[in-house]
Amino acid sequence: MILHTPVLLHEVCSFLNPESKLIVDCTLGHGGHTMALLWLAKNARLIAFDVDEHMLRKAELRIQNSELNINERIEYIHGNYADIVSVLKGRKTDFILNDLGVNLEHFKDVERGFSIRWSAPLDMRFDTSKWPSAADIVATYSVDQLKALFEHYADFSAPKALELAQHIVTTRKAKPIITTQDFKAILNACGLGDKACTVIFQSLRVETNKEMDNLKMFLSAFPETLNSAWRCLVITYHSIEDRFVKQAFNALVATWNYKLVTKKAVQPNYKEVAINRAARSAKLRILEKN
Ligand SMILES: C[S@@+](CC[C@H](N)C(=O)[O-])C[C@H]1O[C@@H](n2cnc3c(N)ncnc32)[C@H](O)[C@@H]1O
Repeated sequence: MILHTPVLLHEVCSFLNPESKLIVDCTLGHGGHTMALLWLAKNARLIAFDVDEHMLRKAELRIQNSELNINERIEYIHGNYADIVSVLKGRKTDFILNDLGVNLEHFKDVERGFSIRWSAPLDMRFDTSKWPSAADIVATYSVDQLKALFEHYADFSAPKALELAQHIVTTRKAKPIITTQDFKAILNACGLGDKACTVIFQSLRVETNKEMDNLKMFLSAFPETLNSAWRCLVITYHSIEDRFVKQAFNALVATWNYKLVTKKAVQPNYKEVAINRAARSAKLRILEKN
């Protein structure tokens, strides 16, 4: 079984008050953070979200089969963390963790089309019951929509984003873009190397899963669910996510009801990055309610 290594695990746990009563793990993944948090907070209950049902069930099985004896304290939610307020139904939480982004398994499961390396359907959905897939976006978005996507989520300049968007629209008229390699061939034809292709793939994944919309909704909703003197932690993996989190946290601090627990984002040390390359871009920000 391929297991996702929880990022900044030691640091996340160090910000937990073991007296916490209700914890929310917004992105359960394979459950690495959840297991550690419940092991430390012996009397806490935990609400675990994952929008990917396959991931949620896999984590549930892993936790049931572990010897930690924590499963009865977990409420599993196949759903979007953006809906935190309606799921909590008035309950107040002491500790929220939102570890954004992709699970290692999303890349390793070739058929899901997240990886640029292998030929697979261009899918990229976390929740496979939802529309659109990445291929639907590439097939239906206008030049303007594609251009905006590459400008906003891949930080491409307007002329470069336009060139790419136009090339996609011209190519799809001749031949549908169905697989990851169909899409990569178009990027290569526009002169993009592997690094730029990876950034474009990431931007398409972000759009497919409405990652920025969900993050914005979460950032405006979570304060309503947080108890006094307790914390919200967010781990981001790229600069656009981190900018949103930083701005939202600073806006809350300006109301005098919150404070930043660390002035700067916490980043993994070299040992963690050496063991887990996926951690290299991680940034952890921590907000505390007064
Ligand atoms: C980085 S992984 C979490 C890893 C986890 N902390 C662990 O220790 O295994 C992110 C997870 O968030 C899920 N996810 C992404 N967007 C989501 C959303 N809007 N709501 C709930 N889960 C989401 C993905 O399916 C993925 O499993």
